[in-house]
Amino acid sequence: MEQSYITLGIETSCDETAAAVYSSTQKLLSSITYSQIALHKKQGGVVPEIASRAQLEKINEILSQALAQAHVSLADVAVIAVTHKPGLPGSLLVGVCFAKAAVWSLGKKLIGIDHLEGHIFSPFLENTPEFPHICLSASGGHTALYYVEDFGKYTLLGHTIDDAAGEAFDKIAKLMNLGYPGGPIMEILAQKAHFIDYFRYPRAHTQGLDFSFSGLKTAILYDLVKRNAYDLKTKQFLSSDNQELIMQVASSLHVCVADIFAHKIKSALAVYPQAKAVTFVGGVACNQYITSALKKMVQATGRSFYFPSKEYCTDNAAMIAFVGNYKAQQEKYSDWTLDILR
Ligand code: KG4
Ligand code: ZN
Repeated sequence: MEQSYITLGIETSCDETAAAVYSSTQKLLSSITYSQIALHKKQGGVVPEIASRAQLEKINEILSQALAQAHVSLADVAVIAVTHKPGLPGSLLVGVCFAKAAVWSLGKKLIGIDHLEGHIFSPFLENTPEFPHICLSASGGHTALYYVEDFGKYTLLGHTIDDAAGEAFDKIAKLMNLGYPGGPIMEILAQKAHFIDYFRYPRAHTQGLDFSFSGLKTAILYDLVKRNAYDLKTKQFLSSDNQELIMQVASSLHVCVADIFAHKIKSALAVYPQAKAVTFVGGVACNQYITSALKKMVQATGRSFYFPSKEYCTDNAAMIAFVGNYKAQQEKYSDWTLDILR
């Protein structure tokens, strides 16, 4: 019999401060996310020192909001689930120390959660993907494929050997002075160029089920140099007034990334033909062009395709609370030795 209790999820692995409340009987009761994007925009990427300080400033307020939205008090919470890896050390420490202090002073149970496991099970916040399934997880920090057999039971099939897919969007956007984060900005531009593959960038065919995106960035850089749109010596983008070119780069990049993903998912399905579904998670799964291209491809194989709503694609605490809830059912608690990054 499933036990009924309330889990508080805390996520502070990078540049989002998030808290969520999950009831084992009533499901997700609240999810609050504070994004630091505005703080990092000027630098064109996340600055770890700024990120950890902002975590410390925000965590109390975000936690209070999550409890208030769920109409519960800390006294009602039985389990505190907190992301302890991977991520920026200074940011992770804020969440883990906060969770440990609350657990110690209030007599709760503690569970350390792997952020990537949170992403893998994020589709379950809104849907019930069938087991076993293949999961493609793509964000600014990671890109990986998993074979998922049950709650907490999954195998890594392959991952990026260099940059993450979201990082490729961010770096290529930065190359053209488009701002941060690059993904959503590029998607709007690509749409204006109708997602046509103008420049046919190379589809890096890495071994097996691994990914590589750094070569794609270099290929685009040299293609821009060839078009006299980028000066390698001064590291300057020379075509800021050429909207058409920028839109065509964004458009070609979208088709290329969708192709790479589709190819890798097909390869994974060839190895695991028993997979009943495919899920697509992480920040890059906010991309409507890529999700619809993958959906079409996966459904053509007779399988179902799932991806979370945007708020659960990007970093959030709801997925951490969800994983915390099933780990509590499985009695997989952490002890006082819980540390970051291990
Ligand atoms: O999961 P997430 O919030 O944080 C990490 O764990 O990294 O993902 C952020 C990443 C960024 O690289 C961002 O450019 C990318 O997800 N992203 C997108 C889109 N929205 C966010 N990439 C492509 N298309 C989008 N619409
Ligand atoms: Zn993430």
